[in-house]
Amino acid sequence: MAVEEKIQKALKSAAHDLGVDPGKTIKLECTDRLGYFYKVTLKDEKLLRGQKKYHIMEAVRAGVRFNDDRLKELNEDYLDICSNYEELQKNVVKEVMDVAVGYADTLRSLNSSIAQVDVLTAFAHAATSAPIPFVKPKILPEGSGILKLVRVRHPCVEKQDGVSYIPNNIKLKQGETTLNIITGPNMGGKSTYMRSVALSVFLAHIGSFVPCDEAEISLVDCILTRVGASDCELKGLSTFMLEMVETSGIVRSATSNSLIIIDELGRGTSTYDGCSIAWAIAEYLVKDLKSFALFATHFHEITSIATKFPEVQNLHVSAVVTKDTLTPLYQVKKGPCDKSYGIHCARIAKFPADVLKEAEEHQRKLEFANGMKYINDFEFSLKRKAIDDGDELIANILKKIQKIDETKMSDEEILSEMENLRSEQLSTGNLFLKGLLENTD
Ligand SMILES: Nc1ncnc2c1ncn2[C@@H]1O[C@H](COP(=O)(O)OP(=O)(O)OP(=O)(O)O)[C@@H](O)[C@H]1O
Ligand SMILES: [Mg+2]
Repeated sequence: MAVEEKIQKALKSAAHDLGVDPGKTIKLECTDRLGYFYKVTLKDEKLLRGQKKYHIMEAVRAGVRFNDDRLKELNEDYLDICSNYEELQKNVVKEVMDVAVGYADTLRSLNSSIAQVDVLTAFAHAATSAPIPFVKPKILPEGSGILKLVRVRHPCVEKQDGVSYIPNNIKLKQGETTLNIITGPNMGGKSTYMRSVALSVFLAHIGSFVPCDEAEISLVDCILTRVGASDCELKGLSTFMLEMVETSGIVRSATSNSLIIIDELGRGTSTYDGCSIAWAIAEYLVKDLKSFALFATHFHEITSIATKFPEVQNLHVSAVVTKDTLTPLYQVKKGPCDKSYGIHCARIAKFPADVLKEAEEHQRKLEFANGMKYINDFEFSLKRKAIDDGDELIANILKKIQKIDETKMSDEEILSEMENLRSEQLSTGNLFLKGLLENTD
């Protein structure tokens, strides 16, 4: 700009006038507020003393700012030009905006088309770059009551380095099987299996191919999950309370067209409380809601629901277990698993030997205290039968006790009556009861 050249010349002339180097001792600077001015350091301020030609504008830490009439005049021209320029620029921007607004709808629909292409490309990329390509699911209308996945995989786990993923199947059908209770050792693959199912159903609903060999999926109205034990102190909820609130939300919003995933329930309270709540929820799922549901649990007692409701199928994740080791096979098979292997996991996690020994000792005592002493190694269904028969005998004995009129008996007579009842129960040969009665010795 011509004015800027003139300003540079004015600098040179002022420098010459003051007998200093332009750009070194005397500098030209420009701010939005003041426009152009000269500047010397505070140390060089003495150069200006007695120089009437120069007007000091302000003295700041950075130096003394000043000008002369020539610079003042040029600066006014410069500021005028700048303000004109700003005005013209505003007009240009306004014109550009007016034109752009005309294209707003087009741009918006372009935006949406690009977003769709972006999502579909991402689906295609995920489907083709997986270790085994995803397949197109067969989608059935809501209410058809079918969920069939053949060799379903977890898309994130199978992508991990060094993982050789073991696929599994699932088949749920309204009127046949609606609830799968999944048991099995820690690290056995229960959570991964349930998540793989939920993920495939989800992916199918958002229009993606699914990580299966074959998939038939009825549309669901929602996928409701209770997984993990993430605390939520910020919301003022304890671990257990959060679990209860989430589960309550699930059972209140589910319908027979929902898919429910409950990955363990009732861990943050006493075993009996937890087991009872989990049991009641499982029964409610199958009996009242009739939603498709996967329910993983370490409360093996719950698996007996399958004997009561034909819509319940027990599944377990298989593992090869020796005294000290546990090798998960990640295969989901029919039937319940009747044992936990928590101590095996603790051993794999390298707990100190003394802690493990102590834990095994407590485990033995606790299992025997529940009447398991003689039936602990029984096959699951036999164990269940012994417990159910034992429960019935206990109910009978309680009825007999109720009939005893202790007001008409001496302490010795009551004691002897109790002994008789005890012997009578022992003579039934029920091993569950035998274990329980021995523990009362
Ligand atoms: N089908 C599979 N194929 C290969 N690896 C698997 C498979 N399923 C699970 N895994 C691996 O095993 C790990 C543990 O699995 P997961 O968390 O599902 O076990 P879990 O049975 O839920 O254990 P817990 O009872 O302790 O919750 C996963 O992080 C994953 O690395
Ligand atoms: Mg788990």
